[in-house]
Order: sequence, then C-alpha cells, then structure tokens
Amino acid sequence: MFKVHAIPPQRLPELLRRMPKAELHLHIEGTLEPEMMFALAQRNGVALPYANVQALRAAYDFHNLQSFLDLYYAGASVLCTAQDFYDLAWAYLERAQAEGVVRAELFFDPQTHTARGVPMAAVFDGLGRACADARTRLGLSAELILCFLRHLSQEDALATLEAALPWRAHFIGVGLDSSELGHPPEKFTEVFARARALGLHVVAHAGEEGPPAYIWGALDALKAERIDHGVQAWHDLVLMQHLADEQVPLTVCPLSNLKLCVFERLADHTLARMLDAGLCVSLHSDDPAYFGGYLLENYHQTFAALHLDARHAYRLAANSLRASFAPEPDKQRWMHALKQVFADMSEQD
Ligand code: HPA
Ligand code: ZN
Repeated sequence: MFKVHAIPPQRLPELLRRMPKAELHLHIEGTLEPEMMFALAQRNGVALPYANVQALRAAYDFHNLQSFLDLYYAGASVLCTAQDFYDLAWAYLERAQAEGVVRAELFFDPQTHTARGVPMAAVFDGLGRACADARTRLGLSAELILCFLRHLSQEDALATLEAALPWRAHFIGVGLDSSELGHPPEKFTEVFARARALGLHVVAHAGEEGPPAYIWGALDALKAERIDHGVQAWHDLVLMQHLADEQVPLTVCPLSNLKLCVFERLADHTLARMLDAGLCVSLHSDDPAYFGGYLLENYHQTFAALHLDARHAYRLAANSLRASFAPEPDKQRWMHALKQVFADMSEQD
C-alpha cells in the first residue's frame, strides 16, 4: 500500500501532471484560443469586432456568467466547417493528453452552430473525427456530450435532439448549459426524459449562479447523473447531506468561478467545504481559453489558494475517474495507474 502523506509538497506539480485524470466539464467551444479565433475568422471570411488578439484578450473581463456568454457565442461564429471543428478539438485533445488526461468527455453546443446555418453534419463530423483520432493516435479516451442551451425553449432542445439522432453513435449523453438564472432545470424535463429513453447519459449545469433549488431540480426532474458546478450547494444543508450520501459527482471549475465572479477570491471557493463534507467533487476547466487556464492550471492555482495536499490530489483524480461514463474495465485500469503513480512517487523519498 502506498503512503500518500510521504509525497513532499515540492513534488506536487509533478504529481498533479502525472496522475491520470478525467476531464468531465469542458466546453469545446471554450477552448477556442484568440489566435485560432483570428485564423478561422480569416479562413472563413468572418468579421470580428476586435482589431487583434491583444484587443480580444483585453475584452475577457467578465462580471458574471452572461457577460462571458455574450462574448463566447460571438467567438464561436468563426466555426463553420467540419475542418474547423476538427482543428479546435484536436488542439485541445493534444494538450489534454500532455496534462495527464486519460478520459475527456467534451461538451458541445449544436444550437450555437445550427442557428447560424452550420449543418449538424459539420459539427459531428469534425468533433467525431477528432475524438476517434484521439483514441487511436493519442491513446486518449474521448467522447462527446451534446448540451442544450437553456436560454432557448424545450421545443428547440427537442428538435435539436431529433436532428442529432443520425449521429446517435457519436455522443454518449446530453447536458444543459448557458444562462442559468431564470431557466430552471424543470423547463427541460421532457427532453431529458426522451434522452434517457434513448439510452443517453444525462448531466446538467446547476448551482453555478443559481440556487440549491436548481440542483434539486436537476436531480429530481432531469435525473442528472452528475451536476456541473454545484458550488452553491452549501447554502442547503439537507442537499449537502444528500449529495454526500448518494455520492453525486460534482464537476467543479475553480478558475471559471473566479473569472465569472462567483467567488471574489480563489481562497473563498467552496471546494474545501465540499471536500470536508465528503462530496464526490472533481476539478475541471470549463472554458479554458477564456478563464485563464487548462486543467493543470486549475489544479495548481486551487491547491495553492486552498492549501491542498497530495491526499486531496488523490481524491480529486479518483473522483474524476469514478464519475466518468467510461466502461468499467477502463476505469479500473486508470485507477490502478493512479495508485501506481502515487506508489512510485512515494518510494522515491
Ligand atoms: N456555464 C453555463 N454555460 C456555459 C458555461 C458555463 O460556465 N460555459 C459554456 N457554456
Ligand atoms: Zn460549464
């Protein structure tokens, strides 16, 4: 048996990189770096309201979720062809592998693209091919989760799900994202029931800015298997107990919460409280091109701000693997590899 406490703090960065991790809360459109945004704008003849990369980066000064989403949807307008979606996802997947990600479940927002006249086929062809290449060329297990935009109607979501069915084999689940306040989970009860009937996994953003009632709604009305964010849960002690008892996975994105002013400082983040309460939390990067860091950067900054150690690292990585929708034999293999990394690093003391 390995001794987690035997790993000295100065070796934490190496440990965080080497541990096998699952990225479960990553919007692929949120990995669109300014440089690629400008390159694709030029390739597709799309006009951007920014003079250059510096001017665009300077606009990444958000005060809440909506102020980010306005810019994020505008940025996504440069994505037009299957090749664009491929290039975007491939750049992300290569980077994820270098950070020790062994499993990536990528969110994508088809409505953002089909509303602009981009064919559903272009989205699935590009993203699907990148995921397939990740499996064969990078040894990285990658899958897609189709998200519905909650500021749009349930009818739109239902039509989107039907339009995606020719590519049913290309995605493993559905999610719910975009503007949370004023759009409770119950608005999407029917489309989530339809998705479940199709054998799809279901997850939902809840409790990012919205109240604990939205987390209850995601669990009760949508039967969400994971909650994305969930950081407002601590306002409701009964909910905290339920999340702990049922070990409901919560995919937490600290740099996103900081950038969108959910917390004023990383040191104020509820992650420490969630860990103390025994919740199944894991760390993720949400929209890394906009929020100042990919998965490892989320780990580094959060560990520094909350004074976390190797034991927390083990729990967070193990939770991410456990919460993934990967086949059980894969999960067991990664858990074994995770334990091996800790054992190797403990022995070197
Ligand atoms: N919250 C809700 N919707 C989103 C987000 C987010 O952080 N990122 C992309 N779509
Ligand atoms: Zn998100």
